[in-house]
Amino acid sequence: MSHVTRAPRRSGGLPWIGHTPEYVRDPQAFMARQHERYGPVSEARMLGDDWTMLIGPDACEQAFRNADKAFASGPGWGRLVGPFFHRGLMLLDFEEHHRHRRALQGAFTRAHVAAYTDALQDPVATTIAQWPAGSTQRVYDLLKTLTLGVATEVFMGESDADPDELAEVNRAFVDCVQAATTLVRVPLPGTRWRRAQDGRRRLEEFFGSRLAARRERPGDDLFSVLATLTDDDGALVLSDADVVNHMIFLLMAAHDTSTITVSTMVQLLGQHPEWQERCRAEAMTLGERPSLEDLEGLVDLDLVMREALRIVPPVPVVARETVKDTEVLGVPIPAGRFVAVMLHHTHHMPEIWTDPDRFDPERFSPERREDARHRHAWDPFGGGVHKCLGLVFARHEVLTIVAHLLRTRTWRVDPAYVAPLSYVSLPFPTDGLPVTMHRLQPAPA
Ligand code: HEM
Repeated sequence: MSHVTRAPRRSGGLPWIGHTPEYVRDPQAFMARQHERYGPVSEARMLGDDWTMLIGPDACEQAFRNADKAFASGPGWGRLVGPFFHRGLMLLDFEEHHRHRRALQGAFTRAHVAAYTDALQDPVATTIAQWPAGSTQRVYDLLKTLTLGVATEVFMGESDADPDELAEVNRAFVDCVQAATTLVRVPLPGTRWRRAQDGRRRLEEFFGSRLAARRERPGDDLFSVLATLTDDDGALVLSDADVVNHMIFLLMAAHDTSTITVSTMVQLLGQHPEWQERCRAEAMTLGERPSLEDLEGLVDLDLVMREALRIVPPVPVVARETVKDTEVLGVPIPAGRFVAVMLHHTHHMPEIWTDPDRFDPERFSPERREDARHRHAWDPFGGGVHKCLGLVFARHEVLTIVAHLLRTRTWRVDPAYVAPLSYVSLPFPTDGLPVTMHRLQPAPA
């Protein structure tokens, strides 16, 4: 008689939602407890389902490597983000994902990323110039508006669009994002779920109605590039529906992730004036409109960005579902199981990082390279075939914004401040990150 062992199971928790509140309150503490008590592969009830938790770099690696093709991304993420990002790249799997990923790589070549980076510069400079100075502002909220504005121009190519229509489209997009984590998943009037269904329809109409014009008169924006991708025979690679689905997903993939990264950097640079000065000195070597090459040359700002992504990874958990029986580190996982790849925990493991709670950007310097202690020690962009497609652009967007702030503003944050992060969806500071920024006085001649 065969004896099938199961992953150890965490019992208790609230009815239906199980341990979700513990995760939402403090994912790091939840994962550490789970790891300590039950090891790298275990089970817990979350959001009405039994989830298998993979904790620690060895367990996460197996899902990312996915040697036996047992871990599917679409049904795992679909369970979390709902139907609103239907057929986005991260929601596709295996052969179909491979085909679409290859096609989309055509929109993230060096030349295209250079054009998007160039298009970033003016909206970033113009928007930051309008930020109030000398009074306390919710900087996270300002950054969220800034990155949405950037996406409108760089991704959608909508610099001359009707502002009311754009505001409506932005609202539709935000409705889709917010519904992704709501617990009430029925389309009753007045619910987030219903608003998101309406929002998704509005986004489909918006992109669908502009597609023909983009194909006729393409610009340098991502929407135009996707709409006009062709194969070696000159045939269009993506159907109308594909372009619309990819655009809606890309907006989501790019937005909150970049915003929280800049927000964490602003906080940390405010708490560590010596790093703020060091990074400002580097930012001052850039021209008014840094090019791709200029941004690639940044060293200190890059170290700080890596450390910010380690401390607060914008995507703390990656979702999968097993489509066949498999095993991780010797523990069997049956088909049909939701799987949470807990990369956040790895970023704080004392077995990997020296004094992991300390802000220490130089841990990433060539002399120390703590991130090289395990292939999956530092995975803010995920790993394997679904690894973030926009990571190079994300770096240039984040560093453009932070460098621009350093060139024009100065700020301090209380070293004792701890951001009250909500993990209901992707992390964000519920207090909006209150910071007083002052205009930087030009140095005397
Ligand atoms: C700091 C910012 C960002 C972070 C931390 C981040 C993180 C991630 C992570 C962890 C994944 C993998 C999900 C998985 O394995 O299931 C992912 C996928 C993806 N990201 Fe990003 N992302 C960022 C910015 C962006 C930007 C700016 C874009 C687009 C311009 C983008 C486009 C994508 C796409 C298309 C995928 C799906 C890839 C696939 O499934 O093949 N991301 N991202």
